[in-house]
Amino acid sequence: MTRHKVSKAIFPVAGLGTRFLPATKSIPKEIMTLVDRPLIQYAIDEARAAGIDEFIFVTSRGKSALEDYFDHSPELERTLTEAGKADLLETLHQTYMSSGAIAYVRQNRPRGLGHAVWCARRLVGDEPFAVLLPDDVIAAEKPCLKQMVEAYGDLGGCMVAAMEVPPARASSYGVLDVDRDDGSLIRVKGLVEKPKAGTAPSNLAVIGRYILSPRVMENLNNMRPGAGGEIQLTDAIAAEIGGPETVHGYRFQGQRYDCGSKAGFLQATVAFGLARQDLSAEFADFLHHMVALREAAQ
Ligand code: UTP
Repeated sequence: MTRHKVSKAIFPVAGLGTRFLPATKSIPKEIMTLVDRPLIQYAIDEARAAGIDEFIFVTSRGKSALEDYFDHSPELERTLTEAGKADLLETLHQTYMSSGAIAYVRQNRPRGLGHAVWCARRLVGDEPFAVLLPDDVIAAEKPCLKQMVEAYGDLGGCMVAAMEVPPARASSYGVLDVDRDDGSLIRVKGLVEKPKAGTAPSNLAVIGRYILSPRVMENLNNMRPGAGGEIQLTDAIAAEIGGPETVHGYRFQGQRYDCGSKAGFLQATVAFGLARQDLSAEFADFLHHMVALREAAQ
């Protein structure tokens, strides 16, 4: 049987990030840090761990800090080498991308996630590709995209990461209409973007990891604006249902943080801070202290 290989990934980073204004007036959301690493670094590391070796960024005006982030910085390198700071040098090297491995395309207007992905069509060509939304950060023993790439190898078609959400929250997501639920793999018979309250076909939501057939790019060629007046990626994937290829949800193992929202970003900061050996003791003490103060005040 053919194994379906995935070597290219698209990172759509052209959104306005309005939920983080005023910060995002001058800082791309993807450069904001959990402890000391920008959101984009978590996404790149996850993609590398899954075997991705071509990284395509869909950017927009005001995102140049993001492009600079991946460049070599000889001055910093010299200073750290002279100071014998090998660990910091290693951290710096993790941010470097080899020449030709990274490409940037512009989305000239934020017309939605589907449109952002479509902007990368010429770079993707005729092979399956991954899409990672850097504001969905997933803490997992085996990185989420790696879990998906392994499952995708036998299946092909389209695969979206899925997780259970409280029914009241379903209208903020793309939601799966389930044909067959086999645990980690869910065969899908429908996908609805942001269903109206009370109409969601399940409580399984699509989150920001996808492996898509190049057919989705063709669907995007003809897509009209959907929910919220934006060109929706979910609609272009849904158009594949009932066609020659399969569409699956993948119930991944791991904890997802919605770092596109303030509450999710704060939760991730606490979780990643507590997970850091060099910080956890002091940070946990501080959190206990804060909770005690809050309880005393109530
Ligand atoms: P969001 O829905 O979080 O939108 O996009 P946003 O603009 O980033 O943030 P808010 O809602 O205004 O606070 C989800 C992902 O899709 C990308 C975003 O950069 C983010 O990674 N995106 C969205 C684009 O690249 N282009 C778009 O037109 C819309």
